[in-house]
Amino acid sequence: MHWYEDDALWSDFAPTMFPPARAESAAALVASSPLLDFPPGSRVLDLCCGPGLFVVPLAGRGYDVTGVDLSPTMLDAARAACKAAGAPARLERADMLTYTEPGAFDVVLNVFTSFGYFEAAKDNLQVLRNAHDSLAPGGLLLVDVMGKEVLAGWIGRPKAVDLPDGSYVVQRDTVLDSWRRLRTDWTLVSGASARTASITSWLYSAAELHALFESAGFTGVECFGGFDGSGYDQRSNRLIVRGRRS
Ligand SMILES: C[S@@+](CC[C@H](N)C(=O)[O-])C[C@H]1O[C@@H](n2cnc3c(N)ncnc32)[C@H](O)[C@@H]1O
Repeated sequence: MHWYEDDALWSDFAPTMFPPARAESAAALVASSPLLDFPPGSRVLDLCCGPGLFVVPLAGRGYDVTGVDLSPTMLDAARAACKAAGAPARLERADMLTYTEPGAFDVVLNVFTSFGYFEAAKDNLQVLRNAHDSLAPGGLLLVDVMGKEVLAGWIGRPKAVDLPDGSYVVQRDTVLDSWRRLRTDWTLVSGASARTASITSWLYSAAELHALFESAGFTGVECFGGFDGSGYDQRSNRLIVRGRRS
């Protein structure tokens, strides 16, 4: 089994990855971000939607939203969140490596570092090709990751995150393959017990991800440093790459 297929990983570490504060910040971004401002009624695919932190506010804004994820637990959480918010969305279980719906969307989003999960570089390119296929002509793909240039400024320091129930998570990063990939080891400590898991994903500089978008057929490719639409530089919080299907 590949690490990303481990449903228990996503559910066990959900309190760290998807705390209530992230749901609030996703809602605020959908309300204010120039990069998430689409024509009314746009068909939006949230690829790797997780528990629906973006699906809910996007559907609430009136977009025609589809969420796709591989984890049944994440999809159940997304379903529950949509129901609680009265936000209508289609939720599908699929693998981003193979999922396409030709011409079905005006926008494809892949956010919060949900890209670069496949060991073979060609498979990550295939995800971009699939998104290209799933877009109608003129449609947009946005991929949001942590950029390699920014990560290089603080990587190496272990990070501990306290959780509301008194448990905590320690994250340690290890650079692999001459900065091509990154492994993050997570340890969840609850009382006297500890649970560990590792996430290994590709790291991209702005130039590398820009080139990958072009290899997948995207045009007008641009890089941003955050959802406010700012330029990408050494102070950026995120690396967001956007391209268009001609
Ligand atoms: C870091 S989480 C981000 C979730 C969401 N985008 C967010 O902003 O909260 C990554 C998500 O990708 C999903 N995932 C991992 N591998 C996948 C794959 N091969 N195909 C589809 N989804 C996948 C996981 O189940 C998880 O929900």
